[in-house]
Amino acid sequence: MARITVGVSGGIGAYKAVEVVRGLQKHGHDVTVVMTQSAQRFVGELTFEAITRRRVVTSQWAPGLNADIEHIALADQSDLLLVVPATANVIAKFAHGVADDFLSSLYLATTAPVLLAPAMNTHMLEHPAVVANLDALTARGVRFVAPGEGYLACGWVGKGRLAEPAEVVAAAHALVSHGGRLDGRRVLVTAGPTFEDLDPVRFIGNRSSGRMGYAVAGEAAKRGATVVLVTGPTHLDPPAGVEVVRVRSAADMHAAVMAHAGVVDAVVMAAAVADYTPEAVAAQKVAKGDGGWTVPLTRTVDILAALGKLPSRADRRPVLIGFAAETHDVLAHADAKRKRKGVDLVVANDVAQAGAGFEVDTNVVTFLDDAGAETLPLLPKTEVAGRILDRLERLLGVTPAPAAR
Ligand code: CTP
Repeated sequence: MARITVGVSGGIGAYKAVEVVRGLQKHGHDVTVVMTQSAQRFVGELTFEAITRRRVVTSQWAPGLNADIEHIALADQSDLLLVVPATANVIAKFAHGVADDFLSSLYLATTAPVLLAPAMNTHMLEHPAVVANLDALTARGVRFVAPGEGYLACGWVGKGRLAEPAEVVAAAHALVSHGGRLDGRRVLVTAGPTFEDLDPVRFIGNRSSGRMGYAVAGEAAKRGATVVLVTGPTHLDPPAGVEVVRVRSAADMHAAVMAHAGVVDAVVMAAAVADYTPEAVAAQKVAKGDGGWTVPLTRTVDILAALGKLPSRADRRPVLIGFAAETHDVLAHADAKRKRKGVDLVVANDVAQAGAGFEVDTNVVTFLDDAGAETLPLLPKTEVAGRILDRLERLLGVTPAPAAR
């Protein structure tokens, strides 16, 4: 159940908002309706009041409304702001930050996702002013349910008609139920570097910051998964709602991952695990001598390859997602790793490329699986995490939600 605020603005499609509200209620959502002044010329507030059994907000000047600064309260409490229909005027106000009524103030005050179902005359929809406003809102992350083609109230037949109520309901429901798609699933994510100690003060480490793995863990938790984050040493705050297991060396990480492998549905190995570790750790600090210092190293266990050798998925082998950090022949090396280690999906990145790899907030990755390669553009690591989770949902057989444009 989500708390959805439905803004109704003054277009002929306003009557269809009644059906949208009912559809959202059928999905179990708690709906509050806000009407603009012109919307009230098309539909009466009593209609919405009767079906939502809540007071309909029709004006920011209504007595009592400002006692609890309602647009702020509603803004904070909403999981989604849906505007249906969204007229050219409302779209312009949102695009330019005009806050001259309750709905436009609410838009500025909320941090919830915003979904607009535009409806207007074909020529209005194509007007450069409207196109620029739609582009500005899109760039700000506002989603749209595209208007359909058909008979318009103004007599034209063309694009601009409000999308069908069922389509609006599906898009809104998908946005708010996003969080629950991994409900009941257990996901293990590894992150960060490992430190291989030489003596009590020295170690061999690597440049991994842990950001990619932390972003994946946070996104999995947001989607409802029970998440265990096995992390090497990092300076990051763990994402909300995940169980954190802190480890130091590749051997510690191996032990922690294997302890959970039998009970999780998926493992995302984002950690940069050391491939070699000193043969022995000196019990005391090694004092320098006159010559050099040669440290014999031995191979660590390849954790991902060990997971890939577990019995098949029917016997609960978890879905495996690995990373491949490469500096040359990226796709060929990454695909060879995927096959060698027996993983379902490899996220390959060219760490030599600007904006990708260690210590930055962005990444450029290519997904490789049995079906082939998909290269994503330069994206924030949080967005890459979202795409990885979309792939994981597919691998787990969780139906992807219909996308709102
Ligand atoms: N990995 C692992 N255990 C290791 C080394 C790597 O589980 N001991 C995992 C990483 O977490 C990553 C994937 O294997 O998901 C690939 O890591 P990468 O360092 O790119 O490749 P390596 O397997 O170490 O191969 P190479 O060093 O030959 O490139």
